[in-house]
Amino acid sequence: MCGIVGYIGKAEKKKFLIDGLQELEYRGYDSAGIAILKNGNISSFRALGKLENLRQKTKEFSSSGFGIGIGHTRWATHGKPTEANAHPHSGEFTYIIHNGIIENYKEIKEDLQAEGIKFLSQTDSEVIVHQFEQFIKKGLNSKEAFKKTIEVIEGAYAILLITKDEPETIFFAKNAVPMILGQNSCGEKFMSSSDSPLIGHATDVIYLNDGDFGWVKKDKITIFNGEVSIAPTFVTLGRDKIYAQKDGFRFFMEKEIYEQESVVSETLMGRVNDNGVELDELKNINFSNINAITICACGTSYHAALTAAYLFERISKIKCQVEIASEFRYKKPLLDQGTLFLVISQSGETADTLEALKMAKKAGMKTVAICNVDNSSIVRLSDATILTRAGIEKGVASTKAFATQIVTLWMLSLYLGNKKQNISKKVLQEEIKALLHTPSVLHVKDSIHEKIRRLSKRYLHGHGFFFIGRDIFFPLALEGALKLKEISYLHAEGYPAGEMKHGPIALADSELFTIALMPKNMLYDKTKSNVEELSARDATILAISPLEFDLADDFLQTSLQDHPMSEFFEMMIITQILALEISVRLGNDVDMPRNLAKSVTVE
Ligand code: G6P
Repeated sequence: MCGIVGYIGKAEKKKFLIDGLQELEYRGYDSAGIAILKNGNISSFRALGKLENLRQKTKEFSSSGFGIGIGHTRWATHGKPTEANAHPHSGEFTYIIHNGIIENYKEIKEDLQAEGIKFLSQTDSEVIVHQFEQFIKKGLNSKEAFKKTIEVIEGAYAILLITKDEPETIFFAKNAVPMILGQNSCGEKFMSSSDSPLIGHATDVIYLNDGDFGWVKKDKITIFNGEVSIAPTFVTLGRDKIYAQKDGFRFFMEKEIYEQESVVSETLMGRVNDNGVELDELKNINFSNINAITICACGTSYHAALTAAYLFERISKIKCQVEIASEFRYKKPLLDQGTLFLVISQSGETADTLEALKMAKKAGMKTVAICNVDNSSIVRLSDATILTRAGIEKGVASTKAFATQIVTLWMLSLYLGNKKQNISKKVLQEEIKALLHTPSVLHVKDSIHEKIRRLSKRYLHGHGFFFIGRDIFFPLALEGALKLKEISYLHAEGYPAGEMKHGPIALADSELFTIALMPKNMLYDKTKSNVEELSARDATILAISPLEFDLADDFLQTSLQDHPMSEFFEMMIITQILALEISVRLGNDVDMPRNLAKSVTVE
């Protein structure tokens, strides 16, 4: 995820900006840049890669004395990580930085191009600066032009803009992406994506709300929301940096669980409309002779693949086979050019997945990656990539990467179903409705988290856990068990609910914990019978369901949803929090569990 900072004051602006960006490094980035306006001149620097490269580029530059500045770290979404795509983006007399996605950038860009504007980058963000300058050229003053620009753009954004037209002002706007304003008693003003760059500089901060926009001068902050003027409400800033990087959560994993609601909105942004799914990334791939899909992945990404296989067969009506990458590599697989080869990887660097991809490429297969890290080895090698846009994931136990993979794969299944004309308009519309409903399902309610926390104390021993479910809830059971294993070090298995009777039920006694995923919209009665069989053998049952279940020892009630995928995401959150709370009670290192690595680049 991108990071932004801004500064108004007399100190060395370059220092606050680059140090501030360093504090935002944990969000992940592939390029960075700053722009400083002083004495009517704007100096701008951009560099690919680490912030050290930007430090080197600005080594000779100094900016003491009153001035204003903005800085940005970019995590590529639209357009490759290149210097031209790095922020700030400029027009003739204005510079902007932007975090988020402008959904209607194509329409705006076409209009501006028709008016003779030349674009220098592939980003969606660049439209903001040109649109602003066009309004100025049409006679608006800079405040009116900024307000109008915000009215024109749609999507998610945190924007900072500086212009020679108003050399002591930083314009800002925030919608669905975080932005904080800060100040201190020395007359300095600050802007940032999160608290940590501000600690030690600002004493009081304003957490902007969605729809807020306005301008900051050295002695005044003006905020509007629509036509309404908003009185700035300051709160005192905390002092703990690591706490700030975790946005106040105890662990990165916990923060990432709570972030799923917003990152999934980013995954969907600009890709889904009422008529279906548009994946520009795939426009150069001809799917006409594709009649099957093979998916290869490891770990959590493998569980996303297993889930997707149900969706590809049921929604797209395309045969789908899933392989663990380390197995695939040595089985001498039969590879055929009529099969699409899909790899799924959070990091884009997993050695086994990368090698499997090389084999598919060598066999002349069409290859597509679902990946979170642009420019990673897997992205560079694949014919096309759909980025999951989860932002950097720090917790070793993957959470938000999984959620965004599933959403991406669900979109892909609709896209392919539509391309192959295998999906009716009615079904497509129902699916789109459910897809767009996903972010709200991912909202973590305090009440459910608290209930899981209390309940977790009963699940710290016993001789094992079985997570069980049917259909897409089977891979979710596998993923729930993996989360628990990874951070609690307790033995847990995921199993198809209907398969328990073929062996594992022999283990059932009161010390066997069964986590039963019992959605209303997917084979409820069948799953219920399987859970009853376990209950009859005295297994301890924790049922997760919207429907009351008398035989449960513990019960976590989910909401009544119309679509199985909505139930899937709600249950996913519950299994993630259950693992987290058990791990916390056992005193384990939640974010860095023993023996595990976030990115596995060896066989
Ligand atoms: C490691 C991580 C897992 C991850 C797996 C695959 O084992 O600990 O969380 O699921 O690698 O990683 P990838 O980056 O390819 O998704």
